[in-house]
Amino acid sequence: MKIASAILAACMAASAAASLHAQVKERPIPRVVKKDGRFALFVDDAPFLMLGAQTHNSSAWPAALPKVWPAMEYLNVNTVETPVYWEQFEPRPGQFDYTVIDALLAGARQHRVRLVLLWFGTWKNGSQHYMPEWMKLAPDRYPHILDKNGHAADSPSPYATASLEADKKAFVAFMRHLKAADPERTVIMVQVENEPGTWGSLRDYSPEAQRLFEAPVPPEVLAAMQVKAASPSPNWPAAFGPEADVCFHAWSVAKYVGQVAAAGKAVYPLPLYANAALRDPLKPGAPGTYESGGPTDNVLAIWKVAAPALDILAPDIYMNDPVAYLKVLELYHRDDNALFVPETGGPANNARLFFSALGLQAIGYSPFGMDYTRPRSAADAGRPREEFLAPWAMNYRLIGPMQREIARLNFEGKLQAVSEQQGKLAETLSFGPWNAVVSYGATRNNRAAGNPEPTGRILVAQLKDNQFLVTGFSCRVDFQPAAAGQHRQFLRVEEGSYENGVFKFLRIWNGDETDWGLNFGAEPVVLRVSLATY
Ligand code: DGJ
Repeated sequence: MKIASAILAACMAASAAASLHAQVKERPIPRVVKKDGRFALFVDDAPFLMLGAQTHNSSAWPAALPKVWPAMEYLNVNTVETPVYWEQFEPRPGQFDYTVIDALLAGARQHRVRLVLLWFGTWKNGSQHYMPEWMKLAPDRYPHILDKNGHAADSPSPYATASLEADKKAFVAFMRHLKAADPERTVIMVQVENEPGTWGSLRDYSPEAQRLFEAPVPPEVLAAMQVKAASPSPNWPAAFGPEADVCFHAWSVAKYVGQVAAAGKAVYPLPLYANAALRDPLKPGAPGTYESGGPTDNVLAIWKVAAPALDILAPDIYMNDPVAYLKVLELYHRDDNALFVPETGGPANNARLFFSALGLQAIGYSPFGMDYTRPRSAADAGRPREEFLAPWAMNYRLIGPMQREIARLNFEGKLQAVSEQQGKLAETLSFGPWNAVVSYGATRNNRAAGNPEPTGRILVAQLKDNQFLVTGFSCRVDFQPAAAGQHRQFLRVEEGSYENGVFKFLRIWNGDETDWGLNFGAEPVVLRVSLATY
């Protein structure tokens, strides 16, 4: 007996040690991969779809986290985006406080989610509000930009060498700490600064900035922006005319952010990105009507050439107009840029647009302000706290169990996804020999009327030549052979769900469930559809 319990104790000790070892075992560093013109975020060496949500700005403090995790659990996210505050991280020059980061790591692991940490450094929404006090109190050493009238603006200067060096040093300390403290890669990506650029002034008008503005534009900028200038080495106004200030400021800010990113990446090469406060994608106003200097759609090429250490330039999408929203998705889905939506909001019905992002191979998506620290708006006060989250939770509950399959199918180019747009009653997704016909608000006799509110969304992925994965909400899907004179027949329409990468069969749909096409309502339904022709 004694021997048996001694063996048991030894086994338990060994297994505890093994699991401890397993816990600290280094996993592969996440990376952005491009293949055949498509991107994926690789986490643990396989494509990963970030089902994310971003907290409010002041929610990363340990005292606030109890109001963060339950919301994330309700949403069924796999990734939480939340800030790291420079003012907290470096309370005195060169003294770094890791307690908040460590609390985030521990909390995320406990709640089995990944993190995207947002470095609120030199810029936060165009201002220097997150610089530590010792910097704020020394504006001569860490200067603001000067506006056209020579007044200090509420925005940091991108030419301030001391600020740049301080930011690099702090960011490197942060990344070095992550490298040591996170072998399991809880943190999968880092945002460098937050909506960098300037509101209220197009650029810095300090004497130093003015000198550079009148000097020749670096040739790599001319090449990136495909400028054919009259003179061999034009200055900024000659090269860019009315957009000169914005282009110049973008170059200056991107150079600075790029250096911070490169310094951090040199110690720990996690994927890095910068986020943009957007300009109107359909009717862009004149410079001055949007934040100047950030990675807006008109200067993405400048950012790419100025800041190659950034893997992605990402749009923060708060548009109410779905047409504008879709246009933004298209503008940031480029051959040199993976689509990633790190912040989004707007009316609840915008949640359907997640599917449109998936249709452009988004590697991740993250609505903003998704915690219980405060009501999102006055209208939300007193309402059940889950109410706002529900439309987003619906998406993630559906996709969550098959997130890895979706990420892989999208990376392989086998997936198409769309969402309902007002006035568009039906659309066709082409998969070679098969067309998937999607209709919204369809009645039994197959007449599509559109849903009362455009809530429809669908994802179709080709699993084999004649087999498709189909899932979504509030729409009907049917298949038609592309070849004329042929008819489709359903061989087998299986309802099921993915568990650990395997499709688990639940039941076969037939009769009324298939005779009028495959109907998706508000409940999460996943179908595997096998087709033939006659
Ligand atoms: C965009 C910023 O990036 C966020 O940090 C936040 O300030 C939202 N705007 C507005 O709530």
